Amino acid sequence: YKKYAPYPTVGLKDRTWPDKTITKAPIWCSVDLRDGNQALPIPMSVDEKVEFFRLLVSVGFKEIEVGFPSASATEFAFVRKLIENNLIPDDVSIQVLTQSREHLIRRTFEAIKGAKNAIVHLYNSTSRQQRDIVFRMSREEIITIAVAGTRLVRELKEASGNPGIRFEYSPESFTGTELEYALDVCHAVMDEWGASATNKVILNLPSTVELSTPNVYADRIEWFCRHIKNRDAVLLSVHAHNDRGTAVATSELAVMAGADRIEGALFGNGERCGNMDIIIMALNLMTQGVDPELDFSNLPHIKQVYSRCTRMTVHPRHPYSGDLVYTAFSGSHQDAISKGMKAHQRAADGVWDVPYLPIDPEDVGCNYEAIVRINSQSGKGGIAYVLEKEYGIQIPKWMQPDFGAVVQEVTDRTGEELSAEQIHELFQKEYIGAT
Ligand code: KIV
Ligand code: ZN
Repeated sequence: YKKYAPYPTVGLKDRTWPDKTITKAPIWCSVDLRDGNQALPIPMSVDEKVEFFRLLVSVGFKEIEVGFPSASATEFAFVRKLIENNLIPDDVSIQVLTQSREHLIRRTFEAIKGAKNAIVHLYNSTSRQQRDIVFRMSREEIITIAVAGTRLVRELKEASGNPGIRFEYSPESFTGTELEYALDVCHAVMDEWGASATNKVILNLPSTVELSTPNVYADRIEWFCRHIKNRDAVLLSVHAHNDRGTAVATSELAVMAGADRIEGALFGNGERCGNMDIIIMALNLMTQGVDPELDFSNLPHIKQVYSRCTRMTVHPRHPYSGDLVYTAFSGSHQDAISKGMKAHQRAADGVWDVPYLPIDPEDVGCNYEAIVRINSQSGKGGIAYVLEKEYGIQIPKWMQPDFGAVVQEVTDRTGEELSAEQIHELFQKEYIGAT
């Protein structure tokens, strides 16, 4: 990851800047198969979930929330299939969601029977809105629900004799919950669990609905890290939704504020505006020279499986993955990219330093072919680049404006993009006389 230099490369003279950066990948947890799936118009079938699960494993996820097995027969069957067909690698934990209700918790434990490593993820809603409007319950009653669920998970884990079962608790709607109260709930859960450095609880503080700017959320995480009574007994997790379009920034700032673990989904799939996009956050880390510990070196394949299983599309301008993100139409951009690529080939240090392209497309399995495309916005530099790259024709400087005008006349008239082949044909016709 030395190929990417942390940015900006120049700081202020008298201080280190910026104050905080992310220097190590967080623990990642994919929620594609649960939060992502529950938000699909047509949820994935068991076979589609299996295919998606294999994809997540191949990307390198070690924690994968596979569903809400007590909620539906399909979800239950999927978890059983994973376990009974030995589809879960030994170093991967499956995570299963359950509400804090006795019959659902019991059914969840039936679903994970025989799993080597599993995280039971218990949640109940804690926000003022949920307490007052949805449940009409007092603060104390909400704490009682969380504690009773935790007790049952603890007892069922003990009865199972499986040391590979871990516990996650989410105060759902944390972003709408008074901070001190959220801490009280979490402390009560920690006490009931007997949380310690050797028996950690994953405390997941979700941005269930994104209600503020990312810095406000990160301040809440920082406050939580400072006030939690035994920080060593907790893995602090973040689960951000994207209602304000800032879930990635929220998660990045949360890590800088002390979070250990990040939940999210590929391409940001999930309820409403989605879950935090793990691909974006991971590749943002990569471009700062930090190993994301996830393998996104074949994004086209990942996109293909994702689209097939979820029936969702990826926007052409989606960061890192969209069809148009390694493409420049405008002449000045094309010229700069062309010069940058040539300089990169000459550079001894191998550091990626190409204008307008924050990432080498090859690092994510894309190629240079699409970078320079020619339409009415393109300039002579881009046209010369295409001819040289595709046909090995180096047109002299004096000829470039002349041929640029020829190409522009066609693109202006037709309003269409020209392929390298069409440009080559025009060139032949204009200067060689061939048709
Ligand atoms: O968004 C959310 O709060 C959730 C919880 C169940 C963690 O998905
Ligand atoms: Zn969620």
